[in-house]
Amino acid sequence: MTPQPGRIIKIVRRESHEEILKNPYLLVMLAITIAGAIFGLNKASHLFAPLFFAAALAGMGWLAWQEMRAGKAQANALDYTKLAAINLASFAPWVKENVRGQDETVDALLAELQSNLSLANPGRTLGAFFLVGPTGTGKTFLGQLIAEALYPESEPVLLRMNQYKSPEDVFTLIGPPPGSPGYEVGGTLTRPVLENPRRVIVFDELEKAHRDLQHCLYDILDTASCREKSSGRTVDFSGSVFFATCNAGVEALRTLRREGHTDPVSWLGSSRDALVDAGGFDRAFLARWSGIYFMDELSPLHVAEVVCLQLARHWRTYGIEVTHAAPELILDAVQSNEEFKQYGVRQLGAYVQMKTSAAIGQARARGVKKVGLVVGSSGQLEVSVPAE
Ligand SMILES: Nc1ncnc2c1ncn2[C@@H]1O[C@H](COP(=O)(O)OP(=O)(O)O)[C@@H](O)[C@H]1O
Ligand SMILES: [Mg+2]
Repeated sequence: MTPQPGRIIKIVRRESHEEILKNPYLLVMLAITIAGAIFGLNKASHLFAPLFFAAALAGMGWLAWQEMRAGKAQANALDYTKLAAINLASFAPWVKENVRGQDETVDALLAELQSNLSLANPGRTLGAFFLVGPTGTGKTFLGQLIAEALYPESEPVLLRMNQYKSPEDVFTLIGPPPGSPGYEVGGTLTRPVLENPRRVIVFDELEKAHRDLQHCLYDILDTASCREKSSGRTVDFSGSVFFATCNAGVEALRTLRREGHTDPVSWLGSSRDALVDAGGFDRAFLARWSGIYFMDELSPLHVAEVVCLQLARHWRTYGIEVTHAAPELILDAVQSNEEFKQYGVRQLGAYVQMKTSAAIGQARARGVKKVGLVVGSSGQLEVSVPAE
């Protein structure tokens, strides 16, 4: 079945009893407390001293066994042979159908991911893709679609980097230290991967994060593993695909393209240099990403196509099909309407939805399942709701 785009992305945060009971630090404290209590209560008798040690030893042993079991469960959960057998070719048309005007990037990225899948193994991630471009060109969306194609059962981890502006924020990715507020929840990056190692992780608008983020990611991208600070558990990223989206350095990359730095080797080196200057990234950090992909502004026709897709998706949630949603109609309306020209793809989609919301109400009230999108006499977009 072809996956459907547009799922709601959220980070799963659980705070159940089960979760707390799995926390080794809590368990150590629990074992020591119980043993201490027994010892304290009975300190008059030296007979209880061995009991204290036995209880503490048993607690430690149990912890070690739990840790081993958790580690094993996670390693077992990833079947590298199965990962290597995934064929992305069948998803390429679906991805291009949904992400418009970025075919070159989609092809290059899928080819790289396919080759990484064939090499899937402990100690290496399935890829780290750095997507640069102006806002509203489909960068985050592409990461989400690849997640849907590759791991339909596993929610992608979308981390908005404007929430990681201080070193303290960055540490929450791998979990606050034991005892700090929220440590039992684990890291925003590590916990979802501990729960399911099949993850696509998107660092959205990376240029907004504190520089410490780069140091935090070095080891993870190099070794595909890290230790969650709050629980001490080892997190395995060998089933993870990383995306970074970035709005900085657009002009610099455009210039490189204009100057003809398009062959892969020259592009990789010169685009990294450009992002060091324009985006404020360390070169060593950029070298950890397997490719820098430039997703430039969409053509007016592609913008119109995207708006049609968004509109159709929006109406479908109300059980209504939009017919004749030809992109040319929207393009005409965009070109003949001054008001539309100031909108990017994001705002234009929202604007068109807002303009058509009254018609949705009418269509719903009449039980109409199909409506038509037309351009009115003065060039404005209209929805024609057939009479009963
Ligand atoms: N190239 C595109 N093809 C299809 N839809 C797109 C494209 N660019 C943007 N969109 C639409 O606009 C929304 C916002 O795009 P997004 O991927 O968040 O942009 P950004 O490049 O800023 O990350 C998406 O959810 C999608 O519906
Ligand atoms: Mg984005």
